[in-house]
Amino acid sequence: MKPRVLVTRALPSSVMQRLSAACDVDRAEGGGGLSHDEIVTRVAGKQALLSMVTDVVDRPVIEAGTSLRIIANVAVGYNNIDVAAAGERGIVVTNTPDVLTDATADFTLALILAVTRRLGEGERLVRRAGWQGWAFDQLLGMQLRGRQLGIVGLGRIGKAVAARASAFGMTVAHTSRSGDGMPLDRLLATSDIVSLHVPLTPETRHLIGQPELARMKRSAYLINTTRGPVVDEEALAWALRSRLIAGAALDVYEREPVVHPELLALENVVLAPHLGSATTDTRTAMADLAVSNVIAVLGDQAPLTPVS
Ligand code: GLV
Repeated sequence: MKPRVLVTRALPSSVMQRLSAACDVDRAEGGGGLSHDEIVTRVAGKQALLSMVTDVVDRPVIEAGTSLRIIANVAVGYNNIDVAAAGERGIVVTNTPDVLTDATADFTLALILAVTRRLGEGERLVRRAGWQGWAFDQLLGMQLRGRQLGIVGLGRIGKAVAARASAFGMTVAHTSRSGDGMPLDRLLATSDIVSLHVPLTPETRHLIGQPELARMKRSAYLINTTRGPVVDEEALAWALRSRLIAGAALDVYEREPVVHPELLALENVVLAPHLGSATTDTRTAMADLAVSNVIAVLGDQAPLTPVS
């Protein structure tokens, strides 16, 4: 009998074919994902769970999955999974590092360019037929060459962003877990753009709040492509409203898909709907890697990319 797998959202058909060849698949139909209650009900009797970044894989899910051997998250971040609860039951947790590094770094640069060159403001102007024609001083932005990019968290994605920023003529400063980088306070005070690349953990929740925003230059920009709760959104709305910083570009939010209403009304913030890894190639590679992890573990092989 084939092992049984629950897949919480539709994945590319090529990937599903590979999974179906090895496993008996129970999957979400349609475009939306399974609700938490549906996951709790349907995970019973499954040996593997293929979860997405939007699924809360907490203790109730893990306790309902009494046959689970692996939870394969289709994301590099795994703050949505109670890894300790999984570990207590000997369940392997895997993520999808590396395959999304380039796409996420590219998107970070897209956000940096969009906010410093006021692309969103310009597009809104054109769309509402408010553009009166070329003007010498219209929507002037900030040039990147010679400016300092401060990277908070020099991991795989942080390094890929640094390489791209260097190609734009920026200097790069960074904090790092090993302590060989710049202290966060100094990085915030000296950078023209601050880009966040730390995972969400209890230590990084609200890493950027009111005091940290107040330390930044008034001309500086904040970019967040990691996880929403790394930034205190209420404090960010205050900092943007009071022009304590020049602008922000966000791909992630504290309560996705809800965005702080004040951010929606501000001109100096670019808002994207969690698109960091959203290219066809990358999403397919992520799903493929998650499936490889499932097939490996259910075939009594070592997982390719365990989280710890
Ligand atoms: C996306 O947010 C991911 O962690 O891969």
